[in-house]
Amino acid sequence: MNIQQIYKLAIELGIKNDFRPKSQIEKQLKRIKEKYEKLSKDEKALFDTEKLTNPYTDSCVHFDSGVKNIKRVMAGIDIDSAELMIAVYLNNHNPKKKVDLVIAHHPEGKGLADLTGVMHLQADVLAQYGVPINVAESLMKIRIGEVTRSINPINHYKTVDAAKLLGLSFMNVHTPADNMIAKFVEAKIKKDKPEYVGDILKSLLEIPEYREAAKQGVGPKLFSGSPDSHAGKIAFTEITGGTEGSAKIYEKMAQAGIGTVIAMHQSEEHKKAAEKAHINVVIAGHISSDSLGMNLFLDELEKKGIEIVPCSGLTRYSRVKKK
Ligand SMILES: [Fe+2]
Ligand SMILES: [Fe+2]
Repeated sequence: MNIQQIYKLAIELGIKNDFRPKSQIEKQLKRIKEKYEKLSKDEKALFDTEKLTNPYTDSCVHFDSGVKNIKRVMAGIDIDSAELMIAVYLNNHNPKKKVDLVIAHHPEGKGLADLTGVMHLQADVLAQYGVPINVAESLMKIRIGEVTRSINPINHYKTVDAAKLLGLSFMNVHTPADNMIAKFVEAKIKKDKPEYVGDILKSLLEIPEYREAAKQGVGPKLFSGSPDSHAGKIAFTEITGGTEGSAKIYEKMAQAGIGTVIAMHQSEEHKKAAEKAHINVVIAGHISSDSLGMNLFLDELEKKGIEIVPCSGLTRYSRVKKK
């Protein structure tokens, strides 16, 4: 596989594991295309045409060194110049086992600049749980503005520049992998049918990545509610969709009948708002959840014969059945 084929596969897997139906995603891409066609020639020249086919603007190819047959991928949660230098070091010391591509989970470059492009997904998922779409959308709009401004001053292309200088292929896969976590965790919880919040923690601890995280001291934790609280209706609204949504949403979620939220991570402001709304919050864990998502994606590469070299917090666990 080359980098473009890996990128295409990531987008396909993202759509396949999206909580929204494929038809809804296609409709949104069509709307973007219609808007694009109405732009002036100069506006079109500045428009990123990848947005016409990729619904996950936080995931992209940053540099392609031209390797046609990628045999080895170094993958991690956060990649910066240090990880890229590790790849170069490994390549110099063992040229027979060359790393052909580095894949980050968290966005870099254009993916980081466009992180908020995927946050609309959260409003659509909240609507599936009964939160009126107008409420979810308007709260999300405010939050998207905040996040857009907070990432605005970042040095977005620092690591991309390093990859180019080192001649190392580099890409990142964010929301497609997060969609894979959300679907996987939802399936596990739906199978186990936990009655109490404590049962959710038990259920999560049966997933290898969370088990390993617990050994490392960062296992699933309860941020709101007690192990003996009834779980009620469980929502998977805070696993995918870029980054944390609006703190004002918990009151609306409670009104929609949600009892427990399973999230990857949560700020203090959001925790307090959830408690105030009597919503139980189970924090599955950030890097452990991201490891799970990346593992599910990397398994698809492993199936195609690509070797995975984990780095930067990624706890590699393969679900590929060995022949
Ligand atoms: Fe993630
Ligand atoms: Fe993350």
